[in-house]
Amino acid sequence: MTRTAAEDQQAWNRYWTRWAAEYDEHQLSRLSLPGEREAWSRAFGAALPPGTREVLDLGTGSGNVALLLAADGYDVTGIDLSPGMLAQARAKLAGHPHPPTFLEADAANPPFAQASLDAIVSRYLLWTLRDAPTALRRWHELLRPGGVLVAIDGQWFEPEDDGADGNTAQGVPAEADAPVDAPAPATPRQEHFAEAYDEAAVDQLAFARAGVERICAAWEEAGFVEVRADPLPELLELDRVHGVAPGHSPQLLHRFSARRGD
Ligand SMILES: C[S@@+](CC[C@H](N)C(=O)[O-])C[C@H]1O[C@@H](n2cnc3c(N)ncnc32)[C@H](O)[C@@H]1O
Repeated sequence: MTRTAAEDQQAWNRYWTRWAAEYDEHQLSRLSLPGEREAWSRAFGAALPPGTREVLDLGTGSGNVALLLAADGYDVTGIDLSPGMLAQARAKLAGHPHPPTFLEADAANPPFAQASLDAIVSRYLLWTLRDAPTALRRWHELLRPGGVLVAIDGQWFEPEDDGADGNTAQGVPAEADAPVDAPAPATPRQEHFAEAYDEAAVDQLAFARAGVERICAAWEEAGFVEVRADPLPELLELDRVHGVAPGHSPQLLHRFSARRGD
């Protein structure tokens, strides 16, 4: 049965909430390994110009990027639509030297004033967007002139140019932090992912199957300047050294970045 857009969103929120604790446990175990925090801090920090203060983390999930950037001194707000993810994020606020704020809100239409942010960042959020052009234009409005948009993401589904049907070789969509050649889902979480993000749903997601060039073109169409996509081999190497979650394998991520023109 075809789901409406609202039903899709509810199914996705339920998925992220149900697996939030497991998701965060994996994220935290990776961040505790040598070089991980520093590498992620560099991956975002290198794209944030001097003078950046107010940062919005879209689809913050269990908040680890927001917490990392806040520890680096930025004033960070993280937003997400999954109450379970936000609960994981908020549970880590105590004792943080410069805590971020976490809010339940839609990344596609963040509740902020126009030209109020120095930077908008995200990790693993781009692929979840339904109406990417509208979201990109909205983010462009929220940035101050000269403000930056930075998104780190990977290619989690069969790319559109392959004429693929959106499924993995095993007939089930890869999980959002899994490569396209991942083994067949075996865990309840992977089965739930395949149900929440079934082929019809993934077809609604503007960037889920998009390559780097198409994503960059969409950013330019939204008005951004100095659009670039940098591969992040340092993070790939850490995946290889430290290993990845069950059913996953190392994947080359890209950092997309751009500026709102003055
Ligand atoms: C793969 S997780 C990434 C979480 C986090 N950014 C990280 O790097 O660990 C994707 C997150 O995006 C959130 N998300 C997806 N669509 C969203 C939307 N429209 N508004 C807010 N959050 C959204 C999900 O709830 C989930 O927490």
